[in-house]
Amino acid sequence: MSITGIKGMNDILPGEVEAWQFIENAARRVFQIYGFAEIRVPVVEKTELFCRSIGETTDIVEKEMYTFEDKSGNSLTLRPEGTAPVMRSYIQNKLYAQDPIAKLYYLGPMFRYERPQKGRYRQFHQIGAEVIGVEDPKIDAQVLAMLSHFFEEAGISDVSLQINSLGCPECRPAYRQTLIDFLKDRLDSLCEDCRRRYLTNPLRVLDCKVPGCKETTALAPSVLDHLCGNCADHFGRVQDALKDLAVPFSLNPRMVRGLDYYTKTAFEMVTGSLGAQNAVAAGGRYDGLIQDLGGPALPGIGFAMGVERLVLLLGDRQLDAPRPDLFLAALGEQASRKAFALMSGLQRKGLHAEMDYEGKSLKAQLRRAGKLQSRYVLIIGEDELARQMAPLRDMDAGTQQDIPLSELGELLFQKLGRP
Ligand code: HAM
Repeated sequence: MSITGIKGMNDILPGEVEAWQFIENAARRVFQIYGFAEIRVPVVEKTELFCRSIGETTDIVEKEMYTFEDKSGNSLTLRPEGTAPVMRSYIQNKLYAQDPIAKLYYLGPMFRYERPQKGRYRQFHQIGAEVIGVEDPKIDAQVLAMLSHFFEEAGISDVSLQINSLGCPECRPAYRQTLIDFLKDRLDSLCEDCRRRYLTNPLRVLDCKVPGCKETTALAPSVLDHLCGNCADHFGRVQDALKDLAVPFSLNPRMVRGLDYYTKTAFEMVTGSLGAQNAVAAGGRYDGLIQDLGGPALPGIGFAMGVERLVLLLGDRQLDAPRPDLFLAALGEQASRKAFALMSGLQRKGLHAEMDYEGKSLKAQLRRAGKLQSRYVLIIGEDELARQMAPLRDMDAGTQQDIPLSELGELLFQKLGRP
């Protein structure tokens, strides 16, 4: 029996990969405008990094990590997200010594042992961005403006931004206790999961999708009514800045995030088109994380987008599959050698040229040129070799013109409008 891939981990095949490249290119273009530099970190880290940052009582750390021992007995984990590894690298490489403000972005695979379904996979890909060192609420708004700029650039409109504030170590403990007190009297109507976690992670109960839990928590105290002065002021100014920048948003005081490092602003870009997996991007502020991981006391804010979900939102949009500039159809051994040399020469000059290697009939070669959607086709046989002239066919216009073989490259560059 042949060996198959792993459940929830997908191949990205030619024909699909164009959508991925389209998204990656749009993200790179937009992020560069805002001054973000790319950072690449390993896909494996010490397990402790994720336990300490994401939080011991989160679903990710409790149930979803790919953790294993290496041959020396070290506990390692395939990264379930990008923020913690980027902060680890930021601290370890003392990037703060170069510049007190860092704007970093990353893209790559993440791993979570979740139940696979549409939009949810075990190996998935994130494009993320993080700003370190700025406390000003304007930066929260700018990160969100950049996110919405990306969606515009990618032509994805079926998304909306929801924001919330999760408070800080000053005000969250009191809110947490208020919520526990509220839940304690209603345990019977909560699902088993929520009954188990209402003491360890009561905010997660607000996020539970089970109808009974949703109903029970409909009247739960709102985090926004329990923010300290500093958090309330920060959140108010984030909203003012978003209005100044004309970035549309709505408040969702029930939004909690599945990672413990968040403080103050938290947000999600949600869509109505993907069923249960409705978050296409998510993030927030993590003002204590860098210090918790042994770095300086610097604030941070960022987000990550799920690339698979973005690709699903692009749907069947026609993206330019790479089309050859020229297909060389050759008849006979001599012509085939000439075509091969011409093709190599064109490739060295930067043109995408293709030919047939199997001595097929002219008809079969033209069929292949059509299948590849080649822009031009050059037909060379014995006669053309003798004349050093050959017909160049414009496949889009359906026209044909005899050209000197020596001028092929120059003419193609002209016709394709390339410098
Ligand atoms: P997250 O909400 O866990 O946040 O993930 C961000 C996004 O990754 C989600 O909104 C979703 O689009 C995508 N995603 C998550 N899990 C899966 C999955 N199993 N399959 C497919 N897509 C998935 C974070 O990871 C934070 N590090 C974001 C962040 C950056 N916060 C601050 N900076």
